[in-house]
Amino acid sequence: MKLSAFGEKFAGSSGIVELMDDLASALRENPQMRFMGGGNPAHLPQVESIFQHRLEGILQSSEKRHQLLGVYSSPQGDPEFRRELADYLNRQFGWGISETNITVTNGSQAAFFLLFNLLAGDTADGGRRHIHLPVVPEYIGYADIGLSEGFFTSTRPEIIEASTRTFKYAVDFDELKLDLDTAALCVSRPTNPTGNVLTDAEVEHLDAVATQYGAPLIIDGAYGPPFPNILFNEAKPYFSDNTVLVLSLSKLGLPGVRTGMVIANEEITRALANANTIASLATGTLGPALATELIRCGDLERLTADDIRPFYRQRAEQSVRWLQDAFERIGDDIPWRLHAPEGAFFLWLWLDGMPISSRELYERLKARNVLVVPGEEFFIGLQDWPHSRQCLRISYAQDEPTVREGLAIIAQEVAKAYR
Ligand SMILES: Cc1ncc(COP(=O)(O)O)c(C=O)c1O
Repeated sequence: MKLSAFGEKFAGSSGIVELMDDLASALRENPQMRFMGGGNPAHLPQVESIFQHRLEGILQSSEKRHQLLGVYSSPQGDPEFRRELADYLNRQFGWGISETNITVTNGSQAAFFLLFNLLAGDTADGGRRHIHLPVVPEYIGYADIGLSEGFFTSTRPEIIEASTRTFKYAVDFDELKLDLDTAALCVSRPTNPTGNVLTDAEVEHLDAVATQYGAPLIIDGAYGPPFPNILFNEAKPYFSDNTVLVLSLSKLGLPGVRTGMVIANEEITRALANANTIASLATGTLGPALATELIRCGDLERLTADDIRPFYRQRAEQSVRWLQDAFERIGDDIPWRLHAPEGAFFLWLWLDGMPISSRELYERLKARNVLVVPGEEFFIGLQDWPHSRQCLRISYAQDEPTVREGLAIIAQEVAKAYR
């Protein structure tokens, strides 16, 4: 098979494709594996039964059923859903948006592919523009999305020590060097992989800097706010005419319906809707139909506030305690630290001065039936930094015994790595 340059890049293997294959085959080959590596949300039966109830309602109405199954949606996404979502966000936050500011995509990953490549890469006048990540580590799913080389640049964050065992990454505004080739800035908030939540002041400051360079600020809100709002402090959702807010239904418990929503000014919305038509023709109807019902009945707000957020907050606190206990049992001479868990559903463990790389630790943990993701992969666009080989991302979304046992084994293997 002779491949195009696009084919070479996208059909070939990359660090992330290899890692994902490795995770998948480890699971396939060993059903005993404790899976703490993926971005799958927790299984919350009470939330799933609300989805079931609303879906049954849709299926019982012949008109709604036909719209769901038998009709292509508009390429920008079902107008009724977009109106419902715009009204919801206006009611909650007074953003003054309408359906003309919203594009629906088949998952937010697909939105990032289109959005990033619409803005960055080779330009008609022979230039080359890039997406800037003001804080890395950042979401692994961005890393291979660009159609051209050198697609991402990034800024090393400041590390702030919050307590002896916790730290926090902050935007290092002194080092944040943008230029006229900066096509956009992007941050996930809460951040996958670290559980960081950029402060309201950081986001406002980033938007102000981005605006100076005519670059949109893309905020990846896969973990909320505004929903699913897996957030353990009081950070506010942010939107402005220069912001592109990318939302998803996945972490609400619906990764299978593949629904992303992009909220942006009308110029970006038109460009994205056109690109989405070329790439996908139309978007799936299931997510929008279900989300319309969830918003109308007040379920979205209720299940986010009463089920999803409290579950993850409690699980985050438990997981920190389980890890602390596990290290205490071993003898507390290991310089482990966690990123302050402020949102999302990952612990980000920093092992300062660890004699082996996190990739090696990942292999050792895999051999003990614990799957995590080595930190190296998340330092996108950043040149060598020893810190990048000293971190692990650990999901705590699985059932309690899996997480507790997994954390105990992680502490044992970390201790062996230092001794
Ligand atoms: C930060 C972040 N952004 C975007 C995505 C993509 O999600 P989806 O395509 O399911 O909407 C994920 C998935 O894990 C994520 O963690």
